[in-house]
Amino acid sequence: MSGSEAIPDAQRRTKAAYGLQWNRFRIVRPEEDRATFRNRTGLTESDVRCRAVLDAGCGMGRYCRVAAEMGAGLVVGLDLSHAVHGARETAAGLTNVALLRGDLLRPPFPDAAFDHIYSLGVLDHTPDPRSAFLALARLLRPGGRIVVWVYERERRLLEAIKDTQRAASTRLPLPVLVTLSRLLAPVGGWKRRLMGSRHRIVRRLGIALHVMTLGVSMHPDPEVRVCDTLDWYAPRYMSRHTLEEVLGWFDEAGLVDVTNLTLGQAFYHAGQGHGINVAGRRPDAANLGGG
Ligand SMILES: C[S@@+](CC[C@H](N)C(=O)[O-])C[C@H]1O[C@@H](n2cnc3c(N)ncnc32)[C@H](O)[C@@H]1O
Repeated sequence: MSGSEAIPDAQRRTKAAYGLQWNRFRIVRPEEDRATFRNRTGLTESDVRCRAVLDAGCGMGRYCRVAAEMGAGLVVGLDLSHAVHGARETAAGLTNVALLRGDLLRPPFPDAAFDHIYSLGVLDHTPDPRSAFLALARLLRPGGRIVVWVYERERRLLEAIKDTQRAASTRLPLPVLVTLSRLLAPVGGWKRRLMGSRHRIVRRLGIALHVMTLGVSMHPDPEVRVCDTLDWYAPRYMSRHTLEEVLGWFDEAGLVDVTNLTLGQAFYHAGQGHGINVAGRRPDAANLGGG
């Protein structure tokens, strides 16, 4: 386990923001978590049964819990922050979960330690997503599979608005952002209702409100809305990527059977999209050319 002194300063805000977020908000929603896990990892019970699985950037461990309940041999949850305390609560009673703090840019595991690795919404919060991916890919056993989800590049205007909002919000103290996220959360509910209206003018009003408050979550559950809003405004790093760029990482790592899981993905609720979601496999030992 790497101690906090080993975590570079560049990630101090990440550590503070997620340590606070995942201990303040207990947003385990078992049905939604199982559906999102299935959508974004493509993993089934038979894939994980008795296997060694790494949840890279586990946050409060909602997907560790899902993988463990699906019968994984061992699920290791790794996170940079004190989120692992929240994850310990989430995983209470499960004997096949181990949680530790560490940096996935320098993962504290030997190469080829895992059969399955998933990293959902994490690489894009690191200072160097490509290096983080390559570091994770080295942890795959021959035949092992990795799946990642990262934010997607968007239209220039949208990105400019988002970047302007975040340039201000990421400088605010975290307790102020928690309060703002609570105050703004109802706006997410209004946006959801307005944008779902049958009347064009009302829908347009909803869109205008949305553009002004892009980071305010529209999740149907009010508490998740507060947490997701904080998640959007607080972290220092939030990079966006193209499919080609992410496919390039898989290629560089020598992975095969690379699949774009974004295609035809079913969402648990509207507004869960806007991601690049790709899986790939390390070649079997027989195909590694004696490596
Ligand atoms: C948006 S949260 C996602 C958490 C979890 N994957 C989920 O979907 O519930 C991003 C998580 O990545 C973690 N993280 C960010 N940079 C990291 C790094 N370099 N090493 C390990 N974890 C990191 C954060 O602490 C945070 O818990």
